[in-house]
Amino acid sequence: MSEIARIRIAAEADAPQLAAMSRDTIEEGLPWRYREPEMLRFMRSPRYNVIVADVADGSLAGFAVMGYGENDAYLALLAVSAPQRRRGIAAQLLDWLLRTAEVAGVENIDVELREDNTIAHRLYESRGFAPAGRRPGGYYGVVNQNRMRLRLRQPATS
Ligand SMILES: CC(C)(COP(=O)(O)OP(=O)(O)OC[C@H]1O[C@@H](n2cnc3c(N)ncnc32)[C@H](O)[C@@H]1OP(=O)(O)O)[C@@H](O)C(=O)NCCC(=O)NCCS
Repeated sequence: MSEIARIRIAAEADAPQLAAMSRDTIEEGLPWRYREPEMLRFMRSPRYNVIVADVADGSLAGFAVMGYGENDAYLALLAVSAPQRRRGIAAQLLDWLLRTAEVAGVENIDVELREDNTIAHRLYESRGFAPAGRRPGGYYGVVNQNRMRLRLRQPATS
């Protein structure tokens, strides 16, 4: 299948748009935490990848943020703008991050999501993520949180 979007590393000029997209999609109904300064912090840190998906008309259709620890990675944010959904853009962003994590030697990738977010559960399941815990009220005491995990490789033994 031809790819619908061009994936690139985010530029600092994208930060206001990413923050607004996070507020309106991922953080809808919750206090707005991932504002412009937080997006800039991610972009400037060597421990994070911030990537965006541009579509043919030049607009920014989606983005993702992944953090790296010693052995594991954490998918912090992933969103696609409503008009651009169901075209495979989230899958493209996620696959970019999975390939990068694999090359970096990451053992596990974790992600947290709202318990009632069926679409995101399907997306992560389609890439091999499995349930890895639940925190009732995990989002500010108002929304239940599920954790999912993708094992990319076995832990090193020595
Ligand atoms: C979740 C989200 C990122 C999916 O983006 P998208 O670009 O529409 O997803 P894709 O088109 O790449 O779809 C990939 C897979 O996700 C699942 N999926 C996506 N939309 C779906 C829908 N409306 N119903 C059921 N499954 C769906 C499917 O498994 C799909 O694979 P398929 O097309 O082979 O069936 C998008 O809906 C979004 O931004 N939602 C709000 C923010 C959010 O929930 N972020 C994730 C949690 S942090």
